[in-house]
Amino acid sequence: MAQKDRLKWDAKYSDGDHLIEKGEASFMLKRYYDKAPAKRALDVACGTGRNALFLAEHGFVVDALDISPVGLERLQDHAGQISGAGKVNCQVVDLDDYSPPEASYGLIVVTNYLNRPLIPKLAKALCDGGILVIDTFMADSQNGTRDFNPDYLLRAGELPEYFDSGYEVLAFEDARKGHCNNELLKQAIAVCKIPA
Ligand SMILES: C[S@@+](CC[C@H](N)C(=O)[O-])C[C@H]1O[C@@H](n2cnc3c(N)ncnc32)[C@H](O)[C@@H]1O
Repeated sequence: MAQKDRLKWDAKYSDGDHLIEKGEASFMLKRYYDKAPAKRALDVACGTGRNALFLAEHGFVVDALDISPVGLERLQDHAGQISGAGKVNCQVVDLDDYSPPEASYGLIVVTNYLNRPLIPKLAKALCDGGILVIDTFMADSQNGTRDFNPDYLLRAGELPEYFDSGYEVLAFEDARKGHCNNELLKQAIAVCKIPA
């Protein structure tokens, strides 16, 4: 499956006009990035890196992971133009077979990608006070998600269910419309790992 994903995304990112590249960083990331206790960040399934670039421009050193080498090449090209302390380290990774290092990141972001078994691992990868932002698509019978694989779509109210009392939900938005160039419903959360 991962190999099929890689081919699909490589083909999309080979098209110079691919819409994701033109998008701004996630609204939830922009709202909470400056609460991060450390400037080490992880962008999971980064694509061409709209979030990683935003963070690097704000002084973060970002590990940017994706299965598509073509997307990462495009990100690397843009990252080379960043001045200041920020930096992007691109890595080709199959997230179906990946565990991040524990207690390591001040900020983690995942947008437009859902991998349910990975969410608890990402929560553990936060350092004390670290911020995790997830902002991705929901199942919705009213819109174009009917033909999507339900494994890749959130249920209403789902994201807060992944976080126990060791995490504070800073913000949660369900059934939000109007993100980068389409009208699919999305869900977004920002959580903070409460220091022990
Ligand atoms: C819709 S794009 C989102 C890109 C970026 N996060 C954004 O919001 O602009 C989904 C990304 O997930 C990546 N992806 C899909 N399956 C993957 C896997 N098994 N391992 C790593 N990345 C994967 C794709 O290559 C693609 O870049």
